[in-house]
Amino acid sequence: MHLPLIDGFGREHTNLRISVTDRCNLRCFYCMPAEHVQFMERSEILTFDEIERFVRIAVPLGLRKLRLTGGEPLVRRDLNVLIRKLAQIKGIEDIGLTTNGILLADQARDLFDAGLRRINVSLDALDAQKFAAITRRQGYEKVINGIQTAKGIGFDPIKVNAVAVRGLTEEEIVPFGLFARRTGVEIRFIEFMPLDADNAWDHGKVLYSNEIVEVLEREIMPLVPLPNRNPKAPATEFVFADGIGRIGFISSVSQPFCMSCDRFRITADGKLRNCLFSTEETDVKVLLRSGSDDSAVEAAIRSSIAMKKAGHEINAANFIQPSRPMYSIGG
Ligand code: 5AD
Ligand code: SF4
Repeated sequence: MHLPLIDGFGREHTNLRISVTDRCNLRCFYCMPAEHVQFMERSEILTFDEIERFVRIAVPLGLRKLRLTGGEPLVRRDLNVLIRKLAQIKGIEDIGLTTNGILLADQARDLFDAGLRRINVSLDALDAQKFAAITRRQGYEKVINGIQTAKGIGFDPIKVNAVAVRGLTEEEIVPFGLFARRTGVEIRFIEFMPLDADNAWDHGKVLYSNEIVEVLEREIMPLVPLPNRNPKAPATEFVFADGIGRIGFISSVSQPFCMSCDRFRITADGKLRNCLFSTEETDVKVLLRSGSDDSAVEAAIRSSIAMKKAGHEINAANFIQPSRPMYSIGG
């Protein structure tokens, strides 16, 4: 029998985020630099077989939920093949994908057929010009088309992640609220976190959840908390008082949820991270590629979880931004 992955604060780790590539077809300012991006060598990136082996080793330790991220996961060739492999692993109850939506319309059918049902689409503005300013690329119509296509195929739930940035997101609040009501897609506002490659984050650039709630309630109608929510989920979820339109808030800066965290991460180049904000990593690729047996990989996972800190310290004076920006961690 294996013991579960419990850290020094009693948190059990059942939820793994797998970054399948650091490459991306957008250049969102809160995540990537505008140019001269140093991508990982392809040979450094875990193969599907290596990812699958890692997951199979972690399932007996209590792993139940997976989310594939990037970079942009859909730029990794044949991602549906990986999803099919992972969906067949006994003990995996849930697989999600976080995508920027650019390639979603093209791949949605294959992803669905591979067993994927949950999709989060990152979309920070419903205005095409603002989209281009944030992502430093074109493609707004592709993303909207991707969401519609995914809906038509039957993905459920589909959620939109919008990073909440002061000076950018204010005008998008009401359009997003109405979009949630019209489409049935949940909009989740994520407070801007210090994970940008440009190191330009500061508290003044965060648009806080409570400010967004205020605007939605004033301009649309009151929000009521959604019943039966998963207490481990980072988002606080609401529905408009008439029952139409869901809105979630990931208030990482104003209300850190670290004490209920059940997540750990593996980067595309095979480094385990026990937190988005870790400054240390555990190399599992070296084990996967050196013929180590499963017990050595298990020991590496346990040591990573054991080192997990109580929480991020974004609000502390001595906060250190991780040296990997978001695109190379995977969100
Ligand atoms: N702050 C908050 N959210 C971010 N994301 C990427 N970078 C940041 C940041 N600096 C979001 C993406 C994606 C999710 C994985 O994290 O938009 O939806
Ligand atoms: Fe968990 Fe780290 Fe996120 Fe906090 S910041 S919720 S500890 S992953």
